[in-house]
Amino acid sequence: MNIHRHRKIGQAKAEIVVLALVFGLFWSGIVRADQNKVNTMLKKATYVGMDTCITCHDKEGKEYKLSTHARINIKNDTTSAEGCETCHGPGSIHVDNGGGKTTIINPKNDPEICFNCHTDKKMQFRLPYHHPVIEGKMGCTNCHDPHGIDVRPWTATSENDVNEVCFKCHTDKRGPYIWAHDALKEGCTTCHQVHGSVNDKMLIARDYNLCLKCHAEVSNPAFSGHAGGHWTQGTCWSATCHQAVHGSNFNNHLRY
Ligand code: HEC
Ligand code: HEC
Ligand code: HEC
Ligand code: HEC
Ligand code: HEC
Ligand code: HEC
Ligand code: HEC
Repeated sequence: MNIHRHRKIGQAKAEIVVLALVFGLFWSGIVRADQNKVNTMLKKATYVGMDTCITCHDKEGKEYKLSTHARINIKNDTTSAEGCETCHGPGSIHVDNGGGKTTIINPKNDPEICFNCHTDKKMQFRLPYHHPVIEGKMGCTNCHDPHGIDVRPWTATSENDVNEVCFKCHTDKRGPYIWAHDALKEGCTTCHQVHGSVNDKMLIARDYNLCLKCHAEVSNPAFSGHAGGHWTQGTCWSATCHQAVHGSNFNNHLRY
């Protein structure tokens, strides 16, 4: 009979699971110990000031000087954080070692550093519909350049660039569409609250008010017949109406 074999396979599976668990614990133990070591070490570090950092990190220094964050430097001493070290933590040990990776904080996917000052953003990312930043699947820096002048993605110089940061991941929204919705030229943020929102799909409004901002003509009495008045009862982008709200290759009224 096969029962034995089954039992063996079952056993083997269980063993693999146990092994994986043990290894997992062991591994996370190492990682945690490493992190703890770094954290304990960094506690002893002191601030050295931005001028020291940029002797080696010229590129970041040049970019950073043009950014909003550079303008908020109030401190003029090196006893507390200013400039680079507001985000990277005290850098003396890093500098004494001539640089290196485990001697300084790199807040790549960790929003906590940013939340220290941007407390309101933490609230926004906790709203029911949000980009998965707190979950660690992406970071603030997927959309914001932490050093650069265009830390705000929407200050891009050309119309086409406004949404560029969103197209990196939402490639389908780039089109080109035969019938593009001109609303996209104003930026994705005319309709979406990209940090987080109480509305599904991170929409700014959950009903036709989202569209009436620009399509005031629909609320005009002359339009009371629009879709038989259905628009007042629901959304304008439900399955039977303007479903292809970003753009369509099939219908000039963005129906599908
Ligand atoms: C507003 C917070 C903030 C400030 C201020 C800041 N950084 Fe950064 N820095 C970051 C973040 C976040 C990253 C990780 C970026 C990423 O990889 O997505 C980073 C990454 C880096 C890196 C690694 C780059 C790489 O390619 O891996 C260097 C080097 C660096 N910063 C240097 C500096 C220097 C020098 C300054 C001051 C002139 C500075 N930073 C100021 C947030 C900051
Ligand atoms: C003596 C030169 C030197 C100085 C001064 C210096 N760094 Fe570095 N830094 C380096 C080198 C070298 C690396 C490693 C680069 C690599 O391996 O890619 C590095 C890496 C980094 C990284 C990336 C770490 C990682 O885990 O990826 C950050 C962030 C950073 N430095 C920030 C700073 C800050 C902030 C200061 C000022 C407090 C500073 N550095 C001062 C040489 C320096
Ligand atoms: C030391 C406090 C501090 C830290 C840490 C910090 N910020 Fe800021 N940030 C500010 C202040 C202050 C402003 C300017 C306030 C304003 O204009 O509303 C600002 C402005 C901004 C802006 C708007 C820029 C503009 O041009 O209007 C963005 C985006 C931003 N921060 C993102 C980040 C990100 C991402 C991080 C983490 C990598 C971060 N900040 C870390 C204090 C901080
Ligand atoms: C999915 C992309 C995206 C992510 C991720 C993101 N942001 Fe933003 N952020 C934007 C856009 C787009 C705007 C402009 C909003 C607008 O114009 O309505 C903005 C605006 C801001 C501003 C300035 C305006 C304001 O609301 O105060 C700050 C500060 C800011 N973000 C901080 C952060 C921080 C901190 C994080 C990470 C915890 C973060 N952002 C993550 C896209 C993003
Ligand atoms: C680094 C990749 C990345 C970037 C950049 C990015 N997003 Fe996202 N976006 C995501 C991920 C991941 C999700 C969550 C998808 C999920 O939960 O299924 C998401 C979800 C969304 C949703 C909700 C989708 C749904 O089905 O509920 C909207 C709307 C959205 N993003 C708009 C934007 C806008 C606007 C920008 C530019 C400001 C942007 N995104 C930038 C990765 C990104
Ligand atoms: C005119 C308002 C408007 C603008 C501008 C807009 N969206 Fe949307 N978006 C919507 C609506 C409405 C929905 C919900 C559609 C649904 O539930 O079927 C949506 C849904 C989404 C979704 C989730 C569902 C899907 O189709 O994948 C993503 C992702 C998204 N938008 C990204 C973007 C990006 C990126 C931009 C900028 C290029 C953008 N949106 C600009 C109105 C808009
Ligand atoms: C930022 C302004 C803006 C917003 C918000 C906006 N639109 Fe538009 N929309 C336009 C512009 C501009 C045009 C092109 C000119 C025109 O036809 O009126 C357009 C065209 C259209 C068209 C194609 C033309 C037609 O008569 O059939 C439809 C359908 C449409 N929008 C639906 C919507 C829906 C649904 C919403 C809400 C989810 C919405 N729009 C939100 C600006 C906007």
